[in-house]
Amino acid sequence: MLLWREKIPADWLPKVLADVPALLVDHAHLERKAATSALNLEKYRDLYSSVDVLNTIAIEELQHFQLVLEFLRRRRIAFGQPYPSPWITGLMRSVRNGQRHQAIDHLICCALIEARSCEKFQILARELKERDAELARFYASLVESEGNHYATYLLMARAIDELEASRRLEWYLDLDAELIRQPNPRPMLH
Ligand SMILES: [Fe+2]
Ligand SMILES: [Fe+2]
Repeated sequence: MLLWREKIPADWLPKVLADVPALLVDHAHLERKAATSALNLEKYRDLYSSVDVLNTIAIEELQHFQLVLEFLRRRRIAFGQPYPSPWITGLMRSVRNGQRHQAIDHLICCALIEARSCEKFQILARELKERDAELARFYASLVESEGNHYATYLLMARAIDELEASRRLEWYLDLDAELIRQPNPRPMLH
């Protein structure tokens, strides 16, 4: 896993645990956006040869989305409005223009989102064990898949240009550290 330069803020966990229904609605949208991100990456010339892998990721994310929707229905939580994540917006705003640079930056952003999701799902799986075993198991079941997505995206960026991908990963890890410190009062994953 990545060596983060900043820990998840201490107020994140109590904030999301205080409103699990809102967390689940946000999670549903996160999976939906992860599916569309995988498909959006298929527009880059450097990723044409990875189109099957990207389709597989998109299908997995769509399955995750469906699983969260089923969770919402079982608990009679209404599917609701998505809210933008300042952290994700901040990462994506820094994607440079130009085919190759754009593809590398976009892949690194997706890798960081997957990696932070993976980290947060592990925390939720651990912390929910006592109070909500079903939800804890659900989060634990997603960890491996998101971890694989993170690794796949990073490998794709490195395959385009190893040096540039490493350089940009360093840069993005600093940006992540800066953005994750910004307060976000909403009970969201990111
Ligand atoms: Fe997912
Ligand atoms: Fe994922």
